[in-house]
Amino acid sequence: DRKPYAEPYRPQVHFSPRQNWTNDPNGLVHFDGEYHLFFQYNPFGDKWGHMSWGHAVSSDLLHWKELPVALPEHDGEMIFTGSVVVDEHNTSGLCKDGKPCMVAIYTSHRPGNGREQRESQSIASSQDRGRTWQFYAGNPVLDLDMADFRDPNVSWNDQIHRWVMAVALPNEHKVAFYTSTDLKQWAKVSTFGPEGATGGQWECPDLLQVPADGGRKIWALKVGINPGALQGGSGEQYFLGNFDGREFHSLPGTPVRWTDYGKDSYCAISFNHLPPGEKPTLLGWMSNWQYADKLPTQPWRGQMTLPRRVVAVKDGDSFVLSEDPVTAPLHDGAARPIRKQLAAKQEIAELLSLESPMEMQLTFAPTDAESFGVRLYSDDSHWTEIGFDTAGHVVYADRIHAGVSPGENFLVRTDARTVATRPWNLKIVVDRSSVEVFAQDGTIAMTNLVLPPTSNVKAVVFREGGTKAIAVSGRSWRLKSIWG
Ligand code: FRU
Repeated sequence: DRKPYAEPYRPQVHFSPRQNWTNDPNGLVHFDGEYHLFFQYNPFGDKWGHMSWGHAVSSDLLHWKELPVALPEHDGEMIFTGSVVVDEHNTSGLCKDGKPCMVAIYTSHRPGNGREQRESQSIASSQDRGRTWQFYAGNPVLDLDMADFRDPNVSWNDQIHRWVMAVALPNEHKVAFYTSTDLKQWAKVSTFGPEGATGGQWECPDLLQVPADGGRKIWALKVGINPGALQGGSGEQYFLGNFDGREFHSLPGTPVRWTDYGKDSYCAISFNHLPPGEKPTLLGWMSNWQYADKLPTQPWRGQMTLPRRVVAVKDGDSFVLSEDPVTAPLHDGAARPIRKQLAAKQEIAELLSLESPMEMQLTFAPTDAESFGVRLYSDDSHWTEIGFDTAGHVVYADRIHAGVSPGENFLVRTDARTVATRPWNLKIVVDRSSVEVFAQDGTIAMTNLVLPPTSNVKAVVFREGGTKAIAVSGRSWRLKSIWG
């Protein structure tokens, strides 16, 4: 038997439950000096079922301490995805002793065959920093008598001085908006969609306001889709636009964009109630419904992405989100500089040899090569390749040779379109079973699970085509395990 958190493939810088199944993160919130991560959890096994909210807390978004189940399945009702808010002024009447309390807003899921299934929105409150919870006696608080109506995303809106809920109408490819003064009574104010990708159910909306270039703020509406995402299976698109407290309108002429262009980032939500000045922070489930229940990990199954700080940067006449993973607290010692030249015609050169978990940042000087990038070898015959294909105008991550495949749809290369005016840079975080890539100043995030045979990471730069030398510079770090 292995020590906990030392099993093969066990993430060392990403949250995963000690044992059993997890999918979406839920109720991300900062309160009283703690970050809370609740998560879709099966307390009884390593497959989806008995959905309840697991719970973990952290002081830095990275080192998580798992606590007992927060919201258990009960009375034939599963606790599906939702949010937690801090009710500072007891708007709900549920906070005791004149102190702020936490209120969870989640989907009550009653299983049934087809039309017998029911989904409605319910609430629960906690007076002790999320350690124990009381289900509200008047649940559900929002019931349309529908089979599919889920994943309430609630935040406080300063413009209208009300709570706003974005909630998915999965089969209609819509996000419905509701407002409330007390978290109990909800009034419908608008719907958004269908827009963009509509090839599957819409789930897990998240409405967030992000700082944008030029000192203004811009609204983003992110929504999961399953199946029918860019890379197949589950994934997430986002819209940038205006939100007046009632209606969301996307900026005209902006293309559909994805919060992540890899296969393994789903149902990300942003933290509520962050300390002033802290940038909006998204964290998602690092898997894909196509093969999530086949991953060969034990005694847990499922993990979260790194938290990512989000801003909007100019993109022609419009904007694009830029994501930056939180890793600084894990840097083990000083950065090691990287400086390499691939001479004209030279095809590869070794950069460094480390072990996961590790991080590297690379910038490639302008080049006439057709493609170039980095290969991360875990042994002689297993590697992940991350590269820019300048002829095809894409950045890609290729895990076809990375290691074990849990099933269909796994052995693929994921691509995203690049922009010629942005730098050729990469931020890469390699953990025991994942490679997260942030390309072109974070405007492209690409998250992929990998199941390599070893934790070695030998990085090699490569190039194909072109006649001139290529210069690459950057830095690398060992990362400390979050499990200590
Ligand atoms: C998305 C999802 C949500 C739902 C939850 C159930 O992954 O299907 O829509 O609330 O998982 O576990």
